[in-house]
Amino acid sequence: MAKLPIFGRRKPNESMRIFVVTIIGVVLGFFIGISFPTVSITKLHFSSSIVSYIEDNNSALTAQAILHHVWTTARNVKENDTESTSDTSMKIYVPTNPRGAERLAPGIVVPESDFHQRRLWGNPDEDMPFKPKYLVTFTVGISQKENINRAVKKFSDNFTILLFHYDGHVSEWDEFEWSKRAIHISVRRQAKWWYAKRFLHPDIVAPYEYIFIWDEDLGVEHFNAEEYIKLVKKHQLEISQPGLEPDRGLTWQMTKRRGDHQVHKVTEERPGWCTDPHLPPCAGFVEIMAPVFSRDAWRCVWHMIQNDLIHGWGLDFALRKCVEPAHEKIGVVDSQWIVHQVVPSLGNQGQSEHGRAPWEGVRERCRKEWGIFQTRMAEAEKTYYEMIGVPPPNVTFIH
Ligand SMILES: *[C@@H]1O[C@H](CO)[C@@H](O)[C@H](O)[C@H]1NC(C)=O
Ligand SMILES: *[C@@H]1O[C@H](CO)[C@@H](O)[C@H](O)[C@H]1NC(C)=O
Ligand SMILES: *[C@@H]1O[C@H](CO)[C@@H](O)[C@H](O)[C@H]1NC(C)=O
Ligand SMILES: *[C@@H]1O[C@H](CO)[C@@H](O)[C@H](O)[C@H]1NC(C)=O
Repeated sequence: MAKLPIFGRRKPNESMRIFVVTIIGVVLGFFIGISFPTVSITKLHFSSSIVSYIEDNNSALTAQAILHHVWTTARNVKENDTESTSDTSMKIYVPTNPRGAERLAPGIVVPESDFHQRRLWGNPDEDMPFKPKYLVTFTVGISQKENINRAVKKFSDNFTILLFHYDGHVSEWDEFEWSKRAIHISVRRQAKWWYAKRFLHPDIVAPYEYIFIWDEDLGVEHFNAEEYIKLVKKHQLEISQPGLEPDRGLTWQMTKRRGDHQVHKVTEERPGWCTDPHLPPCAGFVEIMAPVFSRDAWRCVWHMIQNDLIHGWGLDFALRKCVEPAHEKIGVVDSQWIVHQVVPSLGNQGQSEHGRAPWEGVRERCRKEWGIFQTRMAEAEKTYYEMIGVPPPNVTFIH
C-alpha cells in the first residue's frame, strides 16, 4: 500500500526527488527532536489523508504535503499533551482487557474471531446475511474424496466446513460445489490433533456452538448432523460422538451403537475393565475419531492438547476432566450413527524404517504418546495437589 519514493521504481529524474525527500526527512527529524522532546512518536496521528498522499504520486510535492501534515498533527498533539500528561489518569490501562491489550480502550478490543468469509467490497455489516452456527472439520487425503463428499452432504448450511489436507492436494476438491465455500488448510503429513491445536484455538472458533473434529473414514449413511445436534441439546451432552455400528475393529463397549436408545452415557465393559462405573471406559468417555464438543468443553479440551503429542491417544480417557459431572455430560448418540471404516490412510503417511511398514512406526508412536500423556497428566495433578496441600485422590486409569 504505502509506497514511499525511495522504494519505488526509479525513473531517471527521480534521483532528485529522493534527494529532496531525504533532506526534508532529516530536517523534520531534527525539528521534532528539538521542538517536542516530550512527544512520543507513537502519538503522531497518521490519518487516512496521509495514507492517500502516500498512495498518490511519488513526487517531492507529495513528500512536502506529508511533512506538512505530520508537522501540524504533531503540533496539535503537543498542545493537547501539555494538559493530558499532567493527568496520568488520561492514559488508558484496563487490567480486565485480554493479556497484553491493557493499553487499549475496551471498546476496540476484539478478542475472538471466526471463519466467516467476507466480501472485499460493500458494507461490512451486510457481508453475511447468514452466519453458520456449527463447525465441522475433516482431516483428509485425496483418496477419501468421495467419502468426504458423502459426509459433507450430511451437514446443512448451518455448518462451516473446514478441511485439513495432509497430502497437499487441495485444488482437486474444487470439483465439489461445497468445496468453494469451505476453508482449506493444507500442511503435509500432520495428524488431526496437530491441526486442531494450531488452527482451532477456542478464541477463533468461539462463534460456533458445536465443533465436530472428525476423521475421514466414517460412513455416514445413517447420520444427519441437524438431528444429531437436536439430540445433543436435548440430552445436554457437552462431549459426544455418534454410535458406532458394531463392526470389525470395535474397541470399546461405550461407543457401540445401541439400537433401542436415543443416547447412552454409561455402559458395562468386560469384567475388571472399569474400577468405577462412572469412569472410562464405562462412562465419561468417547473415542477420538469422531468427537463433537460444545464451545465450552472445547475451550477446556484445547488447553489439554499437547503440542508434541499429535495422535491424541489417551485424550479420550482424559476428556472427562473438562466437564462436570462427566458421566452425565459425555455420551454417545445412538439414533444418529456412523460406521468406522478403518482406512489406515494417514498411517501410511509415515516413514518406512528398518524394513517395517510405515503404519507400524505410526502405531508405535501412538502408543508411546499415550504413555507420555498419562505421565504428564498424573504429574501435573500430583504437583497441583501438593501445591494446595491435599493428598491426591486415587487415580483410576486403565493402562
Ligand atoms: C500522478 O502523476 C501523473 C503523471 O505523473 C498524473 O497524470 C496524475 O494525475 C497524478 N496523480 C495524482 C493523484 O496527482
Ligand atoms: C486538540 O484539542 C483541540 C480542542 O480540544 C481539538 O480540536 C484538536 O482536534 C485536538 N488535537 C488533537 C491532535 O487531538
Ligand atoms: C439451521 O438452524 C436453524 C435454527 O436452529 C434451523 O431453523 C434451520 O432449519 C437449520 N437449517 C437447516 C438446513 O437445517
Ligand atoms: C486408594 O487406594 C488404596 C489401595 O488401592 C486404598 O487402600 C485406599 O483406601 C484408597 N483411598 C481412597 C481415598 O479411595
